[in-house]
Amino acid sequence: MTNAAIAQPASGRRKARKRQGARGRAGLITVGVLSALIAAASIATYASGSLQRLAAEDSGLASVYASAPAAVQTALYVHIAGGSLALLLGPWQFSRRLRTRFTRAHRVSGRIYLGAVWIGSLASLVILPYNSAGWVGVAGFGALAVLWSYTGYRAVRAARGRRLEEHRAWMIRNYSLSFAAVMLRTWTPLIAVGYASVTGADADAAFSFAYHLAPFLCWVPNLLVAEVIIRARNLPSPLTKGS
Ligand code: HEM
Repeated sequence: MTNAAIAQPASGRRKARKRQGARGRAGLITVGVLSALIAAASIATYASGSLQRLAAEDSGLASVYASAPAAVQTALYVHIAGGSLALLLGPWQFSRRLRTRFTRAHRVSGRIYLGAVWIGSLASLVILPYNSAGWVGVAGFGALAVLWSYTGYRAVRAARGRRLEEHRAWMIRNYSLSFAAVMLRTWTPLIAVGYASVTGADADAAFSFAYHLAPFLCWVPNLLVAEVIIRARNLPSPLTKGS
């Protein structure tokens, strides 16, 4: 084989790696921007007035919580703060450049991220009985809360054991669950509009239909996508032989 013939496939592989890297960066930027928008919208909404005032304006789900016990209202605010912080910090953890150049910052922000996940998750269990999707919400959001904490715990355990590939895989799963907050607010209006246009239902009925699918739809597909990403990067997965 000539040198040219050997050089050709090597440069082809380099180009393919570059293309993959560019696609990965574009995906991460998109995820980061969408996450920041949802975090900013949540903070802006719930910081703009009391739950009673927001309920009167029919803003967010404030009407559900305006007459709830003080402990539940406090848990809602804690949940929003924890969830928003997780959405704002999470995407940065996946930047290879930041991870390798600023290792200490990666560690510190990772700890704050996981603290926010655990606090947000615990608070969501307090507001769970008041959720607007009834038992489907208890099952769907409840499972999400448990998995959100569990995947974070597995990520920490792997990092402490210096099993960095396993750590990356668990963090991908964990962030795909944080991203449920974005998908909840994407699926619900899409399904509601689709349902209303097919059935002619009014806005309240269409929202209620969509919101009863959302507690599972907001995170199950995310986890499947996470598993596809994990396999594409050859990271350890129970679905991959030998891991
Ligand atoms: C991933 C795990 C999460 C779980 C298990 C969870 C669970 C819940 C539950 C049960 C509710 C009450 C919903 C209802 O009343 O029907 C809720 C509301 C809310 N959550 Fe989460 N959540 C999660 C992540 C997040 C994140 C990352 C954010 C960041 C913005 C967030 C922001 C909110 C907001 C703003 C509300 C108030 C309802 C609204 O106006 O949309 N959540 N969450």
